[in-house]
Amino acid sequence: MKLQTILLSALLATSLFAADQNATAPMTTKQEGVQYIKMLGEALKSQLQAQMKADPSGMSALGFCTAKAMEITKEVNQKLPTYASVRRTALKTRNEGNAPDAIDTQVMQDYEKAIADKTFTPTDIKVVEEGNVTRLYKPLITEAPCLKCHGTQLSPDIQASLKVNYTKDQATGFTEGSLRGVIVAEIKKH
Ligand code: HEC
Repeated sequence: MKLQTILLSALLATSLFAADQNATAPMTTKQEGVQYIKMLGEALKSQLQAQMKADPSGMSALGFCTAKAMEITKEVNQKLPTYASVRRTALKTRNEGNAPDAIDTQVMQDYEKAIADKTFTPTDIKVVEEGNVTRLYKPLITEAPCLKCHGTQLSPDIQASLKVNYTKDQATGFTEGSLRGVIVAEIKKH
């Protein structure tokens, strides 16, 4: 066999082996957490996008988020194994129920520093071990559509609705590319 052929078959053999291993290996805690993060992220985002499309002013989406964000979070959690949970938090929250704890705050400050230093990558999942719980964090970056409700210039209607429903709203004044918050999965050792 020519050297090239040998190398190629060696390469193929290892990649096939790797693919096979992937298929049969049990999920790691990180993979499991990322899956739960995706479940919550996608449930909220798909609904938000549909509402924004139906009513570009953002008012029906806002009504929807106000009424349903916590309910959807609860529903997703009900689908998870009892040792796992998932939630959203932020340094500046709209709903006080999403307030961060000390570990959340530290992780989000680290993300903000990376953004400022231009070393940030959106796929940077942070893993924090805390006693018998593993936490996985996914950063949520402010994108253009988020600005309608979290930006610097909100329509009078949106402002009025927020004032009524979130008397302690801190979640405005964000710009595109800044950290809006995180989704956190928590997995107990089991
Ligand atoms: C139509 C208005 C609207 C848009 C658009 C919107 N949000 Fe929100 N957002 C809300 C409301 C209302 C809440 C509070 C929900 C609740 O009561 O739990 C919220 C809460 C959040 C939270 C939870 C933490 C907190 O502040 O309480 C995060 C994180 C968040 N939004 C991120 C985003 C991101 C990222 C985008 C863009 C992809 C976005 N939002 C777009 C209205 C909006």
